Amino acid sequence: MKWLKSLALMSAMVISVVAQASPAAIKHQFTAQTKADAKVSVLLVGANQTAQVTGWSADTQAMVSAALAAKDFTGAPQQIVEILAPVGLASERLLVAGVGDSESFNRVAAEKLGAALWSYLPETADAKHAVSVDARLLNNANLVAAIAHGMDLRDYRFDRYKSDPAKTEVRHVQWAVNQAPSVADHYADYAAIAGGVFMARDIINLPGGDGYPQAIAEMVEKAVKPLGIKVTVLNPRQVERAGMGALYGVSKGSEHKAYLLALQWQGSKDAPIALVGKGNTFDTGGYNLKTSSASILRMQTDKAGGGAVIGAVMALAGQKAPVNVVAVVPLSHNLISGSALLPGDVVTAGDGTRIEVANTDAEGRLILADGIWYARDKFKPRVIADIATLTGSKVGALGTAYSAVFTEQDDVLRSMQQAGEATAELVWQLPLGPYPGIIKSNLADIANVGSPGAQAGAVFLQHFAKDTPFIHIDMAGNAYSTSANGIHPAGGNGYGVRLLTEWVKIYADIAE
Ligand code: BES
Ligand code: MN
Ligand code: ZN
Repeated sequence: MKWLKSLALMSAMVISVVAQASPAAIKHQFTAQTKADAKVSVLLVGANQTAQVTGWSADTQAMVSAALAAKDFTGAPQQIVEILAPVGLASERLLVAGVGDSESFNRVAAEKLGAALWSYLPETADAKHAVSVDARLLNNANLVAAIAHGMDLRDYRFDRYKSDPAKTEVRHVQWAVNQAPSVADHYADYAAIAGGVFMARDIINLPGGDGYPQAIAEMVEKAVKPLGIKVTVLNPRQVERAGMGALYGVSKGSEHKAYLLALQWQGSKDAPIALVGKGNTFDTGGYNLKTSSASILRMQTDKAGGGAVIGAVMALAGQKAPVNVVAVVPLSHNLISGSALLPGDVVTAGDGTRIEVANTDAEGRLILADGIWYARDKFKPRVIADIATLTGSKVGALGTAYSAVFTEQDDVLRSMQQAGEATAELVWQLPLGPYPGIIKSNLADIANVGSPGAQAGAVFLQHFAKDTPFIHIDMAGNAYSTSANGIHPAGGNGYGVRLLTEWVKIYADIAE
C-alpha cells in the first residue's frame, strides 16, 4: 500500500509543476475589534497621532509612550518600533508602525507599508495565534485594504522546485478597522489583482524546459476559466494555417512549436481594449545565439509581457470590472536546431507583410507582429497596448525603474502615465520618429532590426497596428527582482499586471 501511495504522490508532483497557480497564503479578517489571542500585535500610527488604544491600562500606555520616545518614533512611513513582552497585553510583541502624513499615504505607500510589515513579522503566526493589526486610527477603507494587499504581494513564494519547501500553512491576520465591510470590499478587489500578479510571477518563474508554449497555454486555460474568461487556444497547426508565419517561424527550431492564446473578459459592450504580451518562453537568441552566460541566463523571463496581460485580464475579471478587454499572447520557444530560422530568412506575417529576419534574436517583434495582427483582425479593438521584454537598448536608455512607452496618441500616453503613477510601475516616453528607413529591407518589405534599437522595435510593431490607436511598452529588465524588495519577493515580480489593470479602467472611462 505504501508504494502505491508514494506513486500517487509522485504523479501528483509532476502535474503540479505546470498545473498549479501558487495559492494565496494569508487569510485576512476585518472586524471592529482586535482579537485577544494574538501572538503579535501591530498598531498603525499616522504622523500626528498618538499611539493610543482605548482599553489599554495606564501602565501599558506609559510603557508604549516611553518606548516610542526612546526610539524617536515620529510616525514616519514604515518606521517600526518593536516592544517585547508589552506590559498588560496578551501578545508577545507589539509593533508600532508609522504611516506618515495622510496626504502622502496613498495606495502605493499603503502597499509598501504592508510589505515592510510582512517582511518584519515572524513566520510563527498560525491560525491560533494570528497577527493582529489595529488600523482604527486610519479612516480610509481603501488604504487599509491596500496595506493587506501589500502583505499578500510580498508573501508570494515559488517553491515548487524545492524538495523541502517551507511550510505552506495559511497564516492569519486579524484586522481591527473602522467600516469593516467596506475594507473587506476593497480588499476583494485587491485580492483579484494579487491573483493576477501571482499568475504572472508563476509564468515568469517557470524554467524554459517546463514552461514551453503548450504548457503555458494549458496552465493558463485551466486557471482563467473559473473567472468567466473566454479562452481561445490556437495550436501550432492552427497558428501556421492562420498564416502567422512570423510567430510560427520563431518556434520552428524547437520541438515545442508556437501557440497563440486569447483571453477575453467581456464586462461591457464597448469595443474591446486589446493587450498583447510577448510570450517567448525561452530566448536563446536562435542562430544569433546569446553567447555570454549572463545574457542567456534567466531568458525564461522573456514571457513576462505575456504574464502581465494574462494577469491583468484575470484581475479585471476577478473584479468583474465593467470593461471589455482581451489579452493576446503569442507563445514561442526561440531555440536552435536543423529546422530553426536562419539569419536572413524571410517570413510572412498574418497581415501579409514579408519580414527579413536579419537577426534571429529580435524574435519578440516577430511573434508580436502576429499577435497584434490577430488582435486587430479578430477583435476590432479601440486601442492596442503591447508589452514585451523587447530590447537591451531600452535597458541602456532607462534602466529598470521605468519601462519605455511609444505612442502617437496623447490620451493613451496620459492614461498610461497616470496608471504608472498610481501603481508605481512607472513609464517614460521615447519617440516613434522620425526615423526614416529605420526598418528598411532590401530583400523583403521590412527588416526586424534597425537603429536606435528600442525605437526600431517600436516602429516595427506600429506597422502591424495600422490605424488602430497603439502604445508599445518595452519592459526589458523590469520583470525580475534579483532580491526581495518592497512588494516584490525575489524572482519574477509580475511587473505590468498592476499597471495594465489600472490603465484599462482609466482608458475605458475615456469617452469615445
Ligand atoms: N528578450 C530580449 C531582450 C532582453 C534583453 C530582455 C535583456 C531582457 C533583458 C530580446 O529578444 C533580444 O534579444 N533583443 C535584442 C534585439 C537585437 C538583436 C536587435 C537585443 O536587445 O539585444
Ligand atoms: Mn531575443
Ligand atoms: Zn526575447
